[in-house]
Amino acid sequence: MKIAFITDLHIDAPGNFPLGLDTRAQFLKTLDYAADSGCEALILGGDLCHKTGDRDIYSWVKNEVYKRFDLVYAVPGNHDDPVLMAEIFGTTNDLHETELYTSHLLGGIEFLFSDTSSGYMSESQWSWLFEKAKKQHTDVFIIMHHPPVLVGSKHMEPKYQFNQMSKAAELFKEFNSKQFHVFCGHYHLDRTVVSGNMHLYLTPSTFVQIHPQYSDFVRGSDFIGYREIIVGEGSGYCTETLITGSIIPIGV
Ligand SMILES: [Fe+2]
Repeated sequence: MKIAFITDLHIDAPGNFPLGLDTRAQFLKTLDYAADSGCEALILGGDLCHKTGDRDIYSWVKNEVYKRFDLVYAVPGNHDDPVLMAEIFGTTNDLHETELYTSHLLGGIEFLFSDTSSGYMSESQWSWLFEKAKKQHTDVFIIMHHPPVLVGSKHMEPKYQFNQMSKAAELFKEFNSKQFHVFCGHYHLDRTVVSGNMHLYLTPSTFVQIHPQYSDFVRGSDFIGYREIIVGEGSGYCTETLITGSIIPIGV
């Protein structure tokens, strides 16, 4: 099964163009590319909205994704509202207080979909995650917006980083006979980080990339893209990022 992981859409209200870019067109270009590439499932990695969760934006995204995919999953980012997202996407059964987390089998692998939208996970969510990790035989697959370890982006760290990295380190250490495979967005960066038994895959945004070498906000590459995750075909899995085009400035 080929899965498309598309993240950091940053869609704004109609007529609003963040940084002068047409984030709707950029997202649709990437979505079409993934659907045409034969991806059977779609995972949205958070920051569907540019600033804050918005009913109309979620409805627009939902409509567009279900035109192309039958299987759609989404985790909230720091610019999302998990409760509103659950309401619009029809996943209120996965709401725990105000956190949206659950697990789904994709290609025979159980993916854990976490909610780090506040920059933290509640004690209940951590308990759920530890329990799920305990039950996996060898590998643990996690989808979360925030990378759980340092990645080396001077703009994002420490200001916007996940606030519970030491707790995440405890998780990886407690189950050190298992491998963790973590898929994230948030940093607007294409990077792989391997640290002990944790393999982290950051995925570029469909909005704009952030240069990791500057503490000020400096744009990275002008390319937009997404990640494919291929599971259920032999042992292990394959993953790569694909470039779907360039940023689309308004009025150019
Ligand atoms: Fe983002």
